Amino acid sequence: MWQFLLLLGTSLLVTGGRCQCLSEYTEMFAEAGSQAVLPCTCRSPSASAAVVLWSKDLEGTVWRKGKSGLEHWGIGAAQRVRCPHSEVGAGDYSLYIKEVREEDSGKYTCMVQDREKNLSKRILLRVIKVSISPPAPVEGNKMTITCSVSPWPQEATVSWMLNEKRVYPDSADYVLSKNQASVLESKASAGMMGNWSCVVHKGRKQGKATTALTVRGIVNPSSSSAKVYAEVGSAVTLPCVFSTGLTPSDTAWERLDTSGSALPLSPSFNLTSLLSLPPWDRYRCSGTVEGRRVTKEMQLVTAQVLSNSPSTQKAPVSLTCHLSNASEVTEYEWVRVTYDLNGTQSESSVQKGRVLGINRVTDRNSGEWACRFHGKKGVLGNVTYHLHLMSGLMRDNETGSSSYVAMVAGLGFFLLVLLLVLVQMYRNYRRRKLILQYPALETIVHTIANEREDRERNRVKEDEISK
Ligand SMILES: *[C@@H]1O[C@H](CO)[C@@H](O)[C@H](O)[C@H]1NC(C)=O
Ligand SMILES: *[C@@H]1O[C@H](CO)[C@@H](O)[C@H](O)[C@H]1NC(C)=O
Ligand SMILES: *[C@@H]1O[C@H](CO)[C@@H](O)[C@H](O)[C@H]1NC(C)=O
Ligand SMILES: *[C@@H]1O[C@H](CO)[C@@H](O)[C@H](O)[C@H]1NC(C)=O
Ligand SMILES: *[C@@H]1O[C@H](CO)[C@@H](O)[C@H](O)[C@H]1NC(C)=O
Ligand SMILES: *[C@@H]1O[C@H](CO)[C@@H](O)[C@H](O)[C@H]1NC(C)=O
Repeated sequence: MWQFLLLLGTSLLVTGGRCQCLSEYTEMFAEAGSQAVLPCTCRSPSASAAVVLWSKDLEGTVWRKGKSGLEHWGIGAAQRVRCPHSEVGAGDYSLYIKEVREEDSGKYTCMVQDREKNLSKRILLRVIKVSISPPAPVEGNKMTITCSVSPWPQEATVSWMLNEKRVYPDSADYVLSKNQASVLESKASAGMMGNWSCVVHKGRKQGKATTALTVRGIVNPSSSSAKVYAEVGSAVTLPCVFSTGLTPSDTAWERLDTSGSALPLSPSFNLTSLLSLPPWDRYRCSGTVEGRRVTKEMQLVTAQVLSNSPSTQKAPVSLTCHLSNASEVTEYEWVRVTYDLNGTQSESSVQKGRVLGINRVTDRNSGEWACRFHGKKGVLGNVTYHLHLMSGLMRDNETGSSSYVAMVAGLGFFLLVLLLVLVQMYRNYRRRKLILQYPALETIVHTIANEREDRERNRVKEDEISK
């Protein structure tokens, strides 16, 4: 804001040609450790010839420039205070203070003296700082975050932000006290890790200071009710990682059920040999650090692909991505995984949704499929499924061709029998027609025919015997 006013003032000055300066008194905030710029600008034709004096109440001269251009610093100021020459020439006498400290706060006066006018400007510098005590608390221990402003502004409002998001410290988790400083008291928890900012508003002026909070304890899993995803049947490692530098004692694992009862596990328990189905899918790891017991709980979520297992290869296949707890999942994605000759994995044919429908298994969609599931913060895990085509199709082909052969053979046999029957029927028909002309002959013909057949049969038999 004041920069804008300065610009406005500058333009007025340029047009007016007189040394016409801004309000005589300014308040400003600077974050401890940052560079503070105390504004003092006044353009006049003889700017470079002016005498400039920066002083601080109770301390005297901070920086001074004589008519000759010679600079002079107050005690201890030379290291961190400067007033750039190039800008002095342009009528900007702003004072730059590097790495502002609390003791730099206070009232400053900028005096510019030239032939035409004496200018005096007063600035109140407030230094704002956030500090955490103890600096890196252990999870569960008490800690305080203090926002100090020196000098403390009356009628100011203080607000807090964690990672640029407003926090409302009046909530039960925090105790807030405000007496020359704003203090947050709370039990350290992993969720409080991040950049804490204190924002102080006084009138139109705003000051902000930020510091990072690290909470020591179990850093992985990071949240208190984490989920670990694993494919059914695969090996899984449940994480329990302590902050670097911590040497926990009495580390232990327990298995919990929903009612809260715990079953101790041996330190080197083997998860693959345990049944991890709800409600026995929750685990707790704990350890003692700096006299405090820290624990983290996690839920083991198993993932598997369920198939409608079609009886014939030609039926549509549907694959369903099933998780034992899908409450964190926001999206499912099916990916076909292929490998080239070098064994490099590549993905193709991405489809969204929990269920993958395949009309017919062909060599273009068979092979390895992965269902990848996503949460709010990215990929949570994946589960793979092998859709078999080759063996299935070959078996299908074999059975198909053999049944075809059998069918052809059967049909041929049937036709042959039919032909024989027809031939026999025709012969009988011819015989009957003959008999109809001579009805009395019927039996005779019959017997003769029978006799002839018998004789023929006997002859064949005799031939066979003689052979
Ligand atoms: C500025 O102040 C000095 C000493 O304080 C004085 O001698 C001088 O006359 C003043 N100049 C103007 C223009 O008021
Ligand atoms: C905290 O601030 C630092 C430096 O400004 C930044 O690099 C970091 O990403 C911030 N952390 C979070 C959690 O926002
Ligand atoms: C865990 O159990 C599996 C199957 O029972 C076994 O093959 C594996 O060797 C075991 N691992 C350890 C570290 O005991
Ligand atoms: C699934 O996870 C959510 C969130 O962590 C939890 O509230 C719920 O009880 C879990 N459900 C089961 C069946 O474990
Ligand atoms: C396989 O590896 C060979 C030699 O390393 C390389 O020249 C070739 O480009 C690779 N092929 C593919 C498909 O990555
Ligand atoms: C599935 O997860 C494993 C291990 O997390 C990873 O190596 C693999 O690349 C993933 N597969 C796909 C298709 O995302």
